Amino acid sequence: MNTLTTTAQAPAPIETREQVMQRAKSESLISPRFYTTDFAALERMDMSPLREQWEAMLAEYEGDNNHDHFTRDEEAFRREVRELPPELHQEFLDFLITSITSEFSGCVLYNEIRKRVDNPDIKRLMTYLTRDESRHANFINHSLRDYGLGVDLANLKATKATTYFKPKYILYATYLSEKIGYARYITIYRQLERHPDKRFHPIFRWFERWCNDEFRHGESFALMMRAQPHLLRGANLLWVRFFLLAVYATMFVRDHTRPVLHRAMGLEPDEFDYRVFDITTEITRQVFPVSLDTDSPRFRAGLARLVECSEGYARGKARGGLLGRLAQARHAVSGALAFVRLYLHPVKRHDLPAQIRVAPVW
Ligand SMILES: [Fe+2]
Ligand SMILES: [Fe+2]
Repeated sequence: MNTLTTTAQAPAPIETREQVMQRAKSESLISPRFYTTDFAALERMDMSPLREQWEAMLAEYEGDNNHDHFTRDEEAFRREVRELPPELHQEFLDFLITSITSEFSGCVLYNEIRKRVDNPDIKRLMTYLTRDESRHANFINHSLRDYGLGVDLANLKATKATTYFKPKYILYATYLSEKIGYARYITIYRQLERHPDKRFHPIFRWFERWCNDEFRHGESFALMMRAQPHLLRGANLLWVRFFLLAVYATMFVRDHTRPVLHRAMGLEPDEFDYRVFDITTEITRQVFPVSLDTDSPRFRAGLARLVECSEGYARGKARGGLLGRLAQARHAVSGALAFVRLYLHPVKRHDLPAQIRVAPVW
């Protein structure tokens, strides 16, 4: 058993709707955030270099193959919801809350772009993305409501802090979060398809068609980036590396706070995350000429170090007082150093394929 995962800090328990809101609004380094950007720059985005592929993609959204997917077979669904052991229940709630916050974060950002931009290409795309993410967030909220713990999404939108990102950062970050979201959902779905006895909640039955939405969202951002090739070369590759690492490392640290959830599905967090990295890295070759060497033992040791630092930081916070604050500071500095070392770790380089789009074949 991985010693890192056995020492993970259990977060404060979630028992009330107020605690759910607190968790959703949390601004820690690993919690999902809400974003805003420079809408005028998106207004100027020109999709004409990839007109044919762009229109074909919009037609897929128009077809809305998931229009009937996000409804529950109420009776069958509720029959499958069973009482979970307390630790698993807590980690599952945490999983649902981070998932709904990410889904809703996309919904809020895409909807804001839709309202603020007149560029017909971007406006149409954002209308479809908002539609999909709103379905996803509401579907998760149903499951939280089954436990009497629904999230007040309007209140969350009004009260959660918003982070400003330049448009190119939005493209790198949303592209990656859509693709890694696909890789996560499909990996869980395939695991539970092989081991139906480990499907401890019915929501996982929805993940296959769900993650195809996320995959397509990622394809849209891939086309947007390939239509502006300067975003994918030169000094911008330093940003690409940064966002790749930030997204991978955040997921890795966050998943290691939920070891019981992963084991309930028959997966260790390490095993799950490295599988998700493999899929994501294979997909991102469509846009990024660099990828992280996640198989390198030195890289893996760096990620494990980040988990240790995050756990040490959480222990310091729980301890409180001067000693607690000192421990927090020490672990924050070590964590930052571990991140820098990971950033400097050599990356793999490859050419971009002529054929941009990829199929969701995992
Ligand atoms: Fe989504
Ligand atoms: Fe999405």
